[in-house]
Amino acid sequence: MNATAHIGVTGLAVMGRNLARNFARHGYTVAVHNRTPSRTRSLVQDFGHEGTFVPAETAREFVDALQRPRRLMIMVQAGAATDAVIEEFAPLLEPGDMMIDGGNAHFADTRRREAALRERGIHFVGAGVSGGEEGALNGPSIMPGGSKEAYAVLGPMLETISAHVDGEPCSTHIGTDGAGHFVKMVHNGIEYADMQLIAEAYDLLRQVAEYSPAEIGAIFRTWNQGRLNSYLIEITAEVLSHTDADTGRPFVDVVADAAGQKGTGRWTVQTALDLGTPVTTVAQAAFARSASSRPSLRTAYRSLPGGTRVPLSRSEAERFTAQVEQALYASKVIAYDQGFTLIQDAAAEYGWDIDFGAVAGIWRGGCIIRAAFLDRIRAAHTADPSLVSLLADTSFADEVIAAQVPWREAVASAARRGIATPAFAAALAYYDTLRAGRLPAALLQGQRDYFGAHTYRRTDREGSFHTHWEQPERPETSA
Ligand code: ATR
Repeated sequence: MNATAHIGVTGLAVMGRNLARNFARHGYTVAVHNRTPSRTRSLVQDFGHEGTFVPAETAREFVDALQRPRRLMIMVQAGAATDAVIEEFAPLLEPGDMMIDGGNAHFADTRRREAALRERGIHFVGAGVSGGEEGALNGPSIMPGGSKEAYAVLGPMLETISAHVDGEPCSTHIGTDGAGHFVKMVHNGIEYADMQLIAEAYDLLRQVAEYSPAEIGAIFRTWNQGRLNSYLIEITAEVLSHTDADTGRPFVDVVADAAGQKGTGRWTVQTALDLGTPVTTVAQAAFARSASSRPSLRTAYRSLPGGTRVPLSRSEAERFTAQVEQALYASKVIAYDQGFTLIQDAAAEYGWDIDFGAVAGIWRGGCIIRAAFLDRIRAAHTADPSLVSLLADTSFADEVIAAQVPWREAVASAARRGIATPAFAAALAYYDTLRAGRLPAALLQGQRDYFGAHTYRRTDREGSFHTHWEQPERPETSA
């Protein structure tokens, strides 16, 4: 077989098929392969007219169809299937060839696979791909890790098929080994937080201001014209305006209120605990989904008393709506900021040289968290590559300062009325924790020293100290 293909895609379920079509539509010759050959045949049958596909039945045929250095993209389930496919193809490749894993792998697996294949001279590129099946076909946000050399060869192709914003591609080399899959994981964690914050805003407008879902849809549509402009706000307006055809009721009222999750949000929180990064809004968002899906716990709590409900006048409802917009915006800034802190912590831990401004840049299009304010996050991180937090940037700080009173009002109103706003409250608590001059962590250190002789440091002297709690009059020991 002639080696004509610029790239090969193996694993032709929805994501793989759409990525292969995206490459072909951009003029690349694409070798296509699937464990079950019928999928390969149906791709060529249904979409062969969109470009040049080279169907391959066997692994050998597939590899032989690829120009060198070979670019072989794996689009199968994360985990054991990915390892099986790597083991099938690696022996057929030569030094300098590239394997790209476009699935949702855990970054630790990507680090392991990259190291093992590097030994064999093969570049392994773990690439996060966001945007679902629509994005895969028409332009996703792509977060590739792996070596710089691999990106030099592969990058132009990924940039061509990615989403574009203001002419700029939504793909960039994130960093070495697992950096791409790490950033994709954090993207999904931020997505969890953003969705939960929007859901809490809806709940407050529904329960406190007593607007109907359609009215709240209209409010979200207005918000989408402003600084909250984003894909998630846009689709929220659509979902809230949707009427169930069977019952004529608002769609949101006929959907069971138990949220599912696939795992990337959980990975974000687990990883953050390992790195000591307080991604509290993501954690609350993940736990809110877990709590919603625990019917017996919910039954046990259901009849317990809540807060006081006072109906609002029309003008009070309008004022409250403005407070919720402020609370949503400020909380969203915190959620994205926590995500960037997690990426910064991982970069330090794993030695990744990550351009944080560029990460914000490639999230502006193609992916679920695409939002107008990512342009400003990009500007802030580009202006100061060592920016510790968005709140260290004056334009974000000014907005959050302006929002903080209504933000508190919204959270306090929710607490008084007995409405849970875990992500709003977590974001506000994060703001107040990091703002505080003194934290009660001092007392925790005292407790730890009391029961476990863990020692403490003092504010007035260097060193570690232990108090003899059973003989408090004895001088403290300095360790
Ligand atoms: P999606 O979510 O896009 O539908 P997925 O479930 O992540 O896709 O991946 C399914 C793909 O992985 C299929 O192409 C599947 O091949 P088959 O069509 O033969 O089932 C492929 N796949 C799963 N396990 C595999 C394995 N062990 N070896 C090779 N391919 C495998």
